[in-house]
Amino acid sequence: MTDIGAVIAIDGPAGSGKSTISRMVAERVGLPMLDTGAMYRAVTCAVLRSGGDVGDPDVAAAAAEGAVIVVDDVVTIDGADVTTEIRGPEVSANVSIVAAHPGVRTHLRAMQREWMARHGGGVLEGRDIGTVVLPDAPLKIYLTASPEVRAKRRAGDVQGDFDLAAAAANIAERDRIDSTREDSPLRPADDAVIVDTSDLTIDEVVERIVSEARSRGLAREASGKELL
Ligand code: DC
Repeated sequence: MTDIGAVIAIDGPAGSGKSTISRMVAERVGLPMLDTGAMYRAVTCAVLRSGGDVGDPDVAAAAAEGAVIVVDDVVTIDGADVTTEIRGPEVSANVSIVAAHPGVRTHLRAMQREWMARHGGGVLEGRDIGTVVLPDAPLKIYLTASPEVRAKRRAGDVQGDFDLAAAAANIAERDRIDSTREDSPLRPADDAVIVDTSDLTIDEVVERIVSEARSRGLAREASGKELL
């Protein structure tokens, strides 16, 4: 295995708690974090904004390559703030279609590896980080939860009326597309630590991952290295 630095790969399906947990883990271990789902969402948003067909691989790849996408606390496309828009129903309904195009994935994968090299490590969350983007990551976590629990968690993210059955159907459909696509399907890496979060609190999951990170010497505060 190549030593690629302090990298924690956190993969799993929608609603498994990845985003919240990854953010908390990153803070605890003193590493920067990259939400790779936000990159796929930003590309989807760029295609929708241009009026293009999300099902067209060339249109989607051109959007990925042509737009300047910045994913940080704020997400921008060519300088326009799309932080809220990328979480909206239109992007959510189309993102798995865009994320299945190999041209899009190749480009975003390169951006993710470049981000990792620039920061010298970090917590990366997504679907294929441990399997394809950074297969030499010293710690791979696969978060999962039952479909019912995942749909209910989505309810907590939305204000006003919420259709639980529709949310469950949307999650099931995204799982199906994400795990059956040809290019880097959603699945746990062979050496991933699988954590079922259905009956655990957020703090319990974070504790578990932080202790795995510390036991591998991946926590920057613990090793005395400077924070980025
Ligand atoms: O984590 P999320 O719900 O924001 O992800 C949005 C979509 O992006 C999801 O349906 C699958 C895709 N995705 C992916 O294919 N690979 C990644 N590394 C991250 C997300």
